Amino acid sequence: MARTMEALFVVLTVTIAATYHVDAAKNASLPLVLWHGMGDSCCNPLSMGNIKKVIEKRVPGIYVRSLMIGDNVADDTINGFLLNSNKQVDMVCKKIASDPKLQNGYNAMGFSQGGQFLRAVAQRCPTPPMNNLISIGGQHQGVYGFPRCPGDNSTLCDYVRKLLDLGAYVSFVQERLVQAQYWHDPMNEDEYKKYSIFLADINNENVKNQTYKTNLMKLNKFVMVKFLQDTMVDPKESEWFGFYKPGEGNIAYPLQESQLYQEDWLGLQKMDKAGKLVFLSSNTDHLQFNLSWFEQNIIDKYVK
Ligand SMILES: *[C@@H]1O[C@H](CO)[C@@H](O)[C@H](O)[C@H]1NC(C)=O
Ligand SMILES: *[C@@H]1O[C@H](CO)[C@@H](O)[C@H](O)[C@H]1NC(C)=O
Ligand SMILES: *[C@@H]1O[C@H](CO)[C@@H](O)[C@H](O)[C@H]1NC(C)=O
Ligand SMILES: *[C@@H]1O[C@H](CO)[C@@H](O)[C@H](O)[C@H]1NC(C)=O
Repeated sequence: MARTMEALFVVLTVTIAATYHVDAAKNASLPLVLWHGMGDSCCNPLSMGNIKKVIEKRVPGIYVRSLMIGDNVADDTINGFLLNSNKQVDMVCKKIASDPKLQNGYNAMGFSQGGQFLRAVAQRCPTPPMNNLISIGGQHQGVYGFPRCPGDNSTLCDYVRKLLDLGAYVSFVQERLVQAQYWHDPMNEDEYKKYSIFLADINNENVKNQTYKTNLMKLNKFVMVKFLQDTMVDPKESEWFGFYKPGEGNIAYPLQESQLYQEDWLGLQKMDKAGKLVFLSSNTDHLQFNLSWFEQNIIDKYVK
């Protein structure tokens, strides 16, 4: 009897110690990687700079890395338009892999096109592991229109429009213009599949890359925020991985009705059934969420 008690006591002690250890580790929030949107940069005090501060205040001690694509803020902004998306994703994979503070895993939050770029990071670069992927207005099925550009008056936006007028799938444009690399023409699905060098690849439109699926399914949560009054993203359904129906330029359909989901090219159906997909909305224009909404629905639930 005494021996049994002793054994039980030992087991109990070990269990408590183990639980305590896990709790202590859990307590420290995972670091967070931010990827800004088009026309923005890592460190703009009015956008990413402010977001970083808000998060640091809400989650004391958290390490937040706002990605700079290039050597300085000016390059970072221009690269959001003109540096091949695949190269950007490669650069970011290297940055993440070589940041000692991210080696035990991290959460990732992408704004607008940063959302689909970070999904490519999850699919292509599983080490260190991404825990939650939070896409704030990302265009996971691309765009079919360029209704408005941040800073309508900017020279870069005019340049983008001129290039898109030439044709997003013209190789000269496709190779140079980031926005052409996630241009998705529902009237020409075959051309999209054939010529899109970024989005068609990460969405497994052609080759069904099992590695992409396996890696994406490693996420704990894939959170997608859609802006219900979005005037910048066409169609806004793309922010929840929906799109225009093939052959239709104006009728949208949800992710769940797509072939990508039904044949589960990326594991999204399995993730959905496992409760890993989270669909949130903000009843505002693109990225115009209010901070208390952001704190309560995003930071407190998926970053803390
Ligand atoms: C864990 O978090 C709680 C509440 O935020 C805090 O009081 C406690 O000191 C933390 N423990 C460790 C080990 O960090
Ligand atoms: C699948 O994706 C992985 C990771 O990016 C890549 O290394 C591999 O070459 C891809 N396979 C195919 C068939 O495209
Ligand atoms: C557009 O930009 C030009 C050059 O920076 C500036 O002179 C002009 O005032 C701007 N127009 C508007 C409407 O902001
Ligand atoms: C922010 O959004 C919440 C919920 O959507 C709303 O109750 C609140 O009034 C908003 N705050 C501001 C300052 O707009």
